[in-house]
Amino acid sequence: MYFLLLCALSGVVTAYWRPGLPPPPYCGIDNDCCSGREDDCSHKIFDAICYCDEFCEQHDDCCPDYQSVCKNKEVKETLFPCKHGGKIYQQGETRMEDCNRCECVQINNKTLDWSCENDPCMVDQDVLNSVNYGSTTWRAANYTQFQGKKLRDGLIYKLGTMPLSAESRRMGPIRYDKNINYPSHFDARERWPRYISPVVDQGWCGSDWAISATTIASDRFAIQSNGAESMVLSPQTLLSCNRQQRGCQGGYIDVVWNFMRNRGIVDEECFPYEAKVTKCPFRPKGTLVEAGCRIPVTQRTSRYKVTPPSVLSTIPDIMYDIMDSGPVQGNIQIEINVDRPK
Ligand SMILES: *[C@@H]1O[C@H](CO)[C@@H](O)[C@H](O)[C@H]1NC(C)=O
Ligand SMILES: *[C@@H]1O[C@H](CO)[C@@H](O)[C@H](O)[C@H]1NC(C)=O
Repeated sequence: MYFLLLCALSGVVTAYWRPGLPPPPYCGIDNDCCSGREDDCSHKIFDAICYCDEFCEQHDDCCPDYQSVCKNKEVKETLFPCKHGGKIYQQGETRMEDCNRCECVQINNKTLDWSCENDPCMVDQDVLNSVNYGSTTWRAANYTQFQGKKLRDGLIYKLGTMPLSAESRRMGPIRYDKNINYPSHFDARERWPRYISPVVDQGWCGSDWAISATTIASDRFAIQSNGAESMVLSPQTLLSCNRQQRGCQGGYIDVVWNFMRNRGIVDEECFPYEAKVTKCPFRPKGTLVEAGCRIPVTQRTSRYKVTPPSVLSTIPDIMYDIMDSGPVQGNIQIEINVDRPK
């Protein structure tokens, strides 16, 4: 019975200090601390005993000032916590403020506070307003898929076609110089139903250089073969196998057309799009069968290769080429001032 009572009491003593218990010092009376187990290294606290030896740490019967006197550890004061939206956060906890990560950190000896990144986000009310206020033909909106994303991630992973090389820019453009009356409306999807590829979601990967090239090549294969070869070509082949490119960080369209011309590519079914750079599963050269692909039509054994690309430079020439042969690939240069003060 006496033993039980002692345990209960000493539990109270070590758990916390509270008014009503005789105040310290105990161990601090004569800095009387002992190593190991030393039953005499103790003090009376009411009619129980507390200890100043190391053994007390395992037994939870240390005197109230054991930590501060014997271990020279200041008992840590509770810091004033971080708050947000009526919730309490402790040190090291995080939350997101749109695209910026905030961490609850200690700012002085008494207080925790939020430390937040301060990067421009993809969805920005000022940008939405300025676009929609101007006389653009499109409207900017707060799309769910852009929320919580940094502007710089959008610039890398939603764009991704590099400017043409100087060499390609020097290429002499095709000149049709057709003097015809162009219709006021022309839609390749109406002119060649079933042959025109749908829009592909590139995901968070700046692979538009690859997707635009394969969709245009697919469209033109179907149009030129009159539907005999109507398949979707694989942008993943370009992402994974065309090594002179920067994968999801962008690529060059002239390099792409050269790769498709020299090496050829496979179809989407054989190597589906994954929105990331994976290991190239094919040898540099070889047939569709060697690449492990299903043969769509018996005449087709080689990979899909394209003819050398050409440059078009005037609007009538571009219109003529689209009406005659199908979609073309264009580069749009986008300039955004990322250093806008917030
Ligand atoms: C914070 O604590 C440190 C170490 O305990 C001490 O040296 C410092 O003076 C304290 N600073 C303030 C502002 O209380
Ligand atoms: C966009 O929509 C989300 C969710 O509806 C909202 O929390 C956020 O404040 C909106 N952002 C802007 C800039 O309007």
